[in-house]
Amino acid sequence: MSNRILIVDDDDTLRETLADVLARHYEVDQAADAASALAIARSRSFDLVLLDLRLPDGNGLEVLQQLHEIDERLLVVVMTAYPEIRTAVTALKAGAYDYLNKPFDLDDLRGLVRRALETQQLRTEVERLRAAVPPLANLEGMIGASPAFLSMVEVTRRIAAAARTPVLISGESGTGKERIAQTIHNLSSRAAGPWVTLNCSAIAEGLLESEMFGHEKGAFTHAVASKRGLLELADGGTLFLDEIGDLSPTLQPKLLRVIETQSFRRVGGQRELHVDVRFVAASNRDLNERIRQGLFREDLYYRLNVAGIDVPPLRERREDIPQLARHFLAQAAAVMGLQVVDIAPLAETRLAAYVWPGNVRELRNVMERALILSGGARIEAEHLPKELCTNAACRSQDGSALPFALADMEKLHIGRVLRHCRGNKTHAAALLGITRLTLRNKIAQYELLEGAEEGEA
Ligand SMILES: Nc1ncnc2c1ncn2[C@@H]1O[C@H](COP(=O)(O)OP(=O)(O)OP(=O)(O)O)[C@@H](O)[C@H]1O
Ligand SMILES: [Mg+2]
Repeated sequence: MSNRILIVDDDDTLRETLADVLARHYEVDQAADAASALAIARSRSFDLVLLDLRLPDGNGLEVLQQLHEIDERLLVVVMTAYPEIRTAVTALKAGAYDYLNKPFDLDDLRGLVRRALETQQLRTEVERLRAAVPPLANLEGMIGASPAFLSMVEVTRRIAAAARTPVLISGESGTGKERIAQTIHNLSSRAAGPWVTLNCSAIAEGLLESEMFGHEKGAFTHAVASKRGLLELADGGTLFLDEIGDLSPTLQPKLLRVIETQSFRRVGGQRELHVDVRFVAASNRDLNERIRQGLFREDLYYRLNVAGIDVPPLRERREDIPQLARHFLAQAAAVMGLQVVDIAPLAETRLAAYVWPGNVRELRNVMERALILSGGARIEAEHLPKELCTNAACRSQDGSALPFALADMEKLHIGRVLRHCRGNKTHAAALLGITRLTLRNKIAQYELLEGAEEGEA
């Protein structure tokens, strides 16, 4: 987007000279009096205004104030005749960015304009950074080895490459939806652009609308100044809409329109603003159920779900548990300044068998707590929450409770470790903390060798 400058001066020769000079690098509009300056400023957005303080139809200081009411971020450089230095100072106090004394050198003008626009860019950048959570580096940060995880990673990579396509990420709480959304941003051509998040369930409907679309001054009681919304802040990047299932029925069609047209108006605004934003939405609710209940628009669902990613719950990809557990343990150890510790076989069995209703997030919390309880020593079963130790925790993949015998658990665990070690018995015996001979006996006893893949039942 090229920068846009408005020149306000009733001296036609001067105004047109300035316009000629600046039009080489910027988009320029002109106004010869206060009334038309304000009308133009209302009709479109500018980055900078060059404002003559003496206008035929108004006091320049008042115009300055009115310009800021239209757009609080507008940079205004006032132009004054030499003896009016006091007025210039008053203007600075009233919020002008800088001033130029007439007559001025065109080189000074160019320098000042360049600096002003750089300032403007920095401000925008700071606003963006404030609104944005720092994105994570890459997909490598995501841990998992199960076929379900790996195929999801593959889908994520492919979706990331299509930089405009909306994405809908579905999955239970704590499965890693936000993490995947960030990954999509980081792997896309928008990675250098802003990453902005908006939680649709966290704030009241009215506020949410002005958060998303921004508002003009006076749009509602507390709108004392105009404000840019997250859509504008996300321009060139990705807007993450978390808990999209909670978006109110009034906002749903408005969102649909932005996704389709990439344009919108601020609340209380007349101007049509254009952005270039990729929408990534996440939901831990069953949106189809919401559609049936009439709470979620089907057209919005299909628009978002052009690219859908289903994140499987942790209990359906148990092979990821050992790696994830060690990853979170190492992470917590680093934070606490401790050595990396191991996990005792029984503790590992329990981690592997638990149903994990809170998914990856719950596993992370359990490992952090275990490390605190173990005091930096090996993680034993007793360092795990008691829910993990009850029979009820030992469930099959469909979540139904199964009364495991200890021998069943042992078979399950050995089978899993063998698979993890790709059948390497020396390695597996070492991980299990038993001799190779014992391992061989167990394999024979449980008929595991060929059946290692079936150990999951
Ligand atoms: N595969 C993974 N590898 C490493 N860390 C992960 C992985 N999946 C999730 N996490 C971590 O687990 C935690 C929960 O993930 P995240 O916040 O993305 O879940 P969510 O699905 O958005 O949850 P909610 O629905 O509750 O908002 C985060 O700390 C995240 O970094
Ligand atoms: Mg989340």
